[in-house]
Amino acid sequence: MRAVAARDRAAGIGGLSLTEMPYPHATENDVIVRVHAAGFIAGELEWPGTWVDRAGHDRVASVPGHDVSGVVAELGYGTTGLTVGQRVFGLTDWCRNGSLAEYVAVEARNLAPLPADVDHTVAAALPISGLTAWQGLFDHGRLTTGQTALIHGAAGAVGAVAVQLAREAGARVIGTGRTADRDTALGLGAGAFLDLQTDPLEDAGEVDVVLDMIGGDHRGPMRRAS
Ligand SMILES: NC(=O)c1ccc[n+]([C@@H]2O[C@H](COP(=O)([O-])OP(=O)(O)OC[C@H]3O[C@@H](n4cnc5c(N)ncnc54)[C@H](OP(=O)(O)O)[C@@H]3O)[C@@H](O)[C@H]2O)c1
Repeated sequence: MRAVAARDRAAGIGGLSLTEMPYPHATENDVIVRVHAAGFIAGELEWPGTWVDRAGHDRVASVPGHDVSGVVAELGYGTTGLTVGQRVFGLTDWCRNGSLAEYVAVEARNLAPLPADVDHTVAAALPISGLTAWQGLFDHGRLTTGQTALIHGAAGAVGAVAVQLAREAGARVIGTGRTADRDTALGLGAGAFLDLQTDPLEDAGEVDVVLDMIGGDHRGPMRRAS
């Protein structure tokens, strides 16, 4: 099968090449997915799991990409809950070959059925950023209906999903970012937006949860004493 392979850790994205790779092997509880769309983050090329397996053995050439959407092509021994031909999306293992390929082996528990009205490219954009947003807001932040969430970087990959999830959960959302991010954040459901270059952060007032997808010092301009 054809796949994008990473062979040279020092070469970064420039070291990726389209090549022939062996068809993946479905181990117990695995599914082989015929890939229709995949997601890739450049930072993966620095993750240890891209270069070694769980036992620490070298696994070059490796196939990057951990977001996937596609159709079940084959079931491994003992796999239950999914059927051949079913549309699925999900997350591939950090330490195995990934989704920038025609086929990928994924544990069935890391896949979900893909509704018929959701496009594969949309689905492949969701797993990592969506799970990050979910974990931040609900597992760690314990955000609930009626609370206020301040989401820094609201127009970014994680922030954009977080704004929608928080709104859907019944929270009031204040997004932050650059001037050009205002319409995106408000369009996704933020009730208010603070431009970190011009608006004092204290304009947010009291909030219950802060999800910071920017990091560093970005408190915004200080309000002038009157
Ligand atoms: N994407 C994922 O699935 C994922 C998963 C786990 C962890 N993370 C981590 O989460 C963080 C955010 O990732 P992301 O993918 O959401 O990044 P992103 O798409 O670049 O989103 C960040 C947003 O914040 C804005 N921003 C950055 N610096 C700013 C500043 N000083 N003032 C105002 N706005 C600023 C960016 O605007 P510009 O684009 O104009 O700079 C962008 O809209 C990163 O540390 C990443 O490693 C990401």
